[in-house]
Amino acid sequence: MEFTSMFQFCFLASISLIFLIRYLIKFYNSSRRKLPLPPGTLGWPYIGETFQLYSQNPNVFFTSKLKRYGSIFKTHILGCPCVMISSPEAAKFVLVTRAHLFKPTYPASKERMLGKQAIFFHQGDYHAKLRKLVLRAFMPEGIRNIVPDIEAIAKDTLQSWEGRLINTFQEMKIFAFNVVLLSIFGKDEVLYREDLKRCYYILEKGYNSMPINLPGTLFNKSMKAREELAQILAKILSTRRQMKFDHNDLLGSFMGDKEGLTDEQIADNIIGVIFAARDTTASILTWILKYLGENPSVLQAVTEEQEAIMRSKKESIAENVLTWADTKKMPITSRVIQETLRVASILSFTFREAVEDVEYEGYLIPKGWKVLPLFRNIHHSPDFFPEPEKFDPSRFEVAQKPNTFMPFGNGIHSCPGNELAKLEISVILHHLTTKYRWSVVGTQNGIQYNPFPLPQDGLPIRFSLKKEATPKS
Ligand code: HEM
Repeated sequence: MEFTSMFQFCFLASISLIFLIRYLIKFYNSSRRKLPLPPGTLGWPYIGETFQLYSQNPNVFFTSKLKRYGSIFKTHILGCPCVMISSPEAAKFVLVTRAHLFKPTYPASKERMLGKQAIFFHQGDYHAKLRKLVLRAFMPEGIRNIVPDIEAIAKDTLQSWEGRLINTFQEMKIFAFNVVLLSIFGKDEVLYREDLKRCYYILEKGYNSMPINLPGTLFNKSMKAREELAQILAKILSTRRQMKFDHNDLLGSFMGDKEGLTDEQIADNIIGVIFAARDTTASILTWILKYLGENPSVLQAVTEEQEAIMRSKKESIAENVLTWADTKKMPITSRVIQETLRVASILSFTFREAVEDVEYEGYLIPKGWKVLPLFRNIHHSPDFFPEPEKFDPSRFEVAQKPNTFMPFGNGIHSCPGNELAKLEISVILHHLTTKYRWSVVGTQNGIQYNPFPLPQDGLPIRFSLKKEATPKS
């Protein structure tokens, strides 16, 4: 009898506990739901405020919203409700401390083109594994030995411009493409370079096209080029497997036996890295040429720094070949790169999606809403960068406040290619400033968005050898 009443008591206590917990969860969730949404408007049904954002310089939209609502506001863009944030603390919350609550998100058409298994689209173990492999290839240890090869590409590129009127962005794209192929395949696959280039150029035309997969559409041509790219990559993989050599490049890192990546996963990530590396680096290089052209004293300081390195090489046995150590002796050049990354802020923002309801500073960010950390607004805030529109590399003589300078993002998805990008930019600037001169052609103040901000018409320049320089020096 005693045992039965004990049992009944335990049973009733457990049931009550379950009800109590369910009540508390319900209460907690409903009190969360009562949190207000951030201030702002959602605009028209479905189209929201897409037109206001994309019909003008996007900064006008962001600045007017920030003035009106402060550093966190809601809006509705491209069919999605969004929360935009522009304080360093909020960016850190979304990208670093609560990164697990905000997954990366891209349009489905981009996922189809780059490949669903590419690093950008993932969280968790698969993402961590890919990131380890990409970083292994692109950390200083992985790239220090390819400095002479990057230098050879830079010299060939610049020689091909001599005496010509060039579109800076288009030419920088070729340079950045050749460097990223080198970092992926080493020098081995030059054989495939032209075919890879041909397919990739068709593929990229479809990136921003309507995702209509019918014969003749840009999207359809892109998808076919993507299939061909995957076939070329399969051929390279099979040749490497037969040869059985170890390679220190990105492909070698992906092919490691322990990693167990499928050919499809490798292909998606190779195409993804090319996509991430090329237009970004080319845009920054284009802006650097523009800012150096507009700031003769800065150009002079960079040139003197680079000439000193050139002289030191002539006196040493290492002759004219740049080394990793040389690229670390370029403080002025390095500040010019940082200031260009800040002023140009080519990735004005990034996209995340809340995976559950999240509370931030008393506001509710509902599950499924997009969250956009606005890098450009942080980089252009007078609170962190006095006279923010002024190009002034000297501001980087002192360290910046935490989370105020994020040209390569922040947290687990931050850019693993940032060392390579800075390296290739430094190497080409060495030869550009010591041997060449350039002048911009036409009106110089417009900005175009494709989708990165770029000087008008890709910055057409007339390019020539300095009188005192010879191409081989
Ligand atoms: C100046 C040039 C570059 C800029 C400004 C830049 C900027 C960025 C930014 C802001 C992100 C983070 C995006 C996010 O959080 O949503 C990112 C990610 C990434 N970048 Fe770069 N990038 C540059 C060059 C490169 C290069 C040269 C490579 C490779 C060789 C590269 C490979 C990647 C990859 C693979 C990711 C995705 C990382 C992940 O999801 O874990 N980037 N980049």
